[in-house]
Amino acid sequence: MEKFVICGKNPLSGEIAVAGAKNSALKLLAASILTVEDCRITNVPDIEDIQVMIDLLRDLGAKVEQKNRHEYIINTKDIKKIEINPVLAAKLRSSIMLVTPLLARFGEVKFPYPGGCVIGKRPIDIFLDGFKAFGAEIKEENNFFHIKTKRLKGCRFVFPWITVTGTESLIMAALLAEGKTTLINCAEEPEIAAMCDYFNSSGARIKGIGNSTIEIEGVKKISGGTFNTIPDRIETGTFAIIGALCGTGVKVVNCNPEHLAVFWEQLKKIGVKLDIGKDFVYIKKSNSLKPTEVRTHEYPGLTTDLQPPLTVLLTQANGLSLVHETIYEGRLFYTDILNKMGANIIMCDPHRVVIQGPTKLSGVTMESPDLRAGMALLIAALIASGKSEIGNIYQIDRGYENIEGRLTRLGANIKRVSK
Ligand code: EPZ
Repeated sequence: MEKFVICGKNPLSGEIAVAGAKNSALKLLAASILTVEDCRITNVPDIEDIQVMIDLLRDLGAKVEQKNRHEYIINTKDIKKIEINPVLAAKLRSSIMLVTPLLARFGEVKFPYPGGCVIGKRPIDIFLDGFKAFGAEIKEENNFFHIKTKRLKGCRFVFPWITVTGTESLIMAALLAEGKTTLINCAEEPEIAAMCDYFNSSGARIKGIGNSTIEIEGVKKISGGTFNTIPDRIETGTFAIIGALCGTGVKVVNCNPEHLAVFWEQLKKIGVKLDIGKDFVYIKKSNSLKPTEVRTHEYPGLTTDLQPPLTVLLTQANGLSLVHETIYEGRLFYTDILNKMGANIIMCDPHRVVIQGPTKLSGVTMESPDLRAGMALLIAALIASGKSEIGNIYQIDRGYENIEGRLTRLGANIKRVSK
């Protein structure tokens, strides 16, 4: 067991490079099952979630060759198994991304309920309704879902609710399905558009990429190819907040600021000084932050994954802020820990907190509740006086590569120690 020990209040400066997007690379790894040819994926972040996905692929019989720290070649030709490993699946919500490729290629899949961050109910009803719409039969037996089909059949499916992995799954279902599929009320995240562009370069016929209505003409075969993972927009935003709180000049590089348009507007409203370039953002600490109202929304709105670090930023704003988390009903409970550090946050209901700022924060011993909340607590520790200890850092390692090394290079005092 490891923990982070952080001594706060160090001024940070310099450049920090953004890694490839976890929520893009994970899906492309799973999508390698759609073809028997080699898939090369570059700019893959070196994080726990990626390792679990690779373990899941290997468990199914895929050959995964690591070319260097951030590049893999996957070949799934020899996959014989159609049952997803339940122990590994319990660690990762994205294990559900393996379901559609297995179903599309082998006509059958068995999988357990997926795990992942405990931030709300996170049901899979829309996936199941989607598979039924494509003509698949679903049985639930011994804590496993068993789905079968002769061949998926193109359909018209309306998402009752916008879901990222749900949209990605049904796009994959349509690729090799017979006939045409129309998906309505799709999620529009840049990771989905990047995935669709890659599929089209591998022989798919997808129209409406990046829109809420997507049309797909099924094809007989998807080829292999090379996918260069897009920069992680959540890391980009997280590092920008770190720069706003403790930087004397932090340049976030290797990013695509276009993917965070609403987030930048929100930061400007709060009074953060930003210089936004094509592939970088330069942030300087501001001495007077303004309170605001934050409301998470599906893309292109303000992403829920940046809500926890934004909440930490607002503990330093002068006045009353409101954070409205509209996507998940369990993604504000970490604010309790911020209060232990000295913040003044009142939970109105599971979806809303009111923050009275500015408050001085002091270091405490705490546990990381989930990936993004863990990162928010780490940011709080960077601005707190004294020493903080964060346990359960597996949760942070799930999504951020060598975070202590990268922040140390900016000047932070953060150490990984064995408990
Ligand atoms: C993706 O999760 C991301 N994960 C999440 O990032 C992110 O927070 C989320 O999208 C929202 O942007 C991955 O891409 C691996 P959803 P996903 O389905 O797809 C409800 C991180 O920290 N819903 O878009 O699982 C659901 O309960 C993670 O990197 C149903 O009701 O999220 C939620 O309220 C955490 N039924 C809403 O939809 C379903 O069948 C949106 O969730 C599916 C979802």
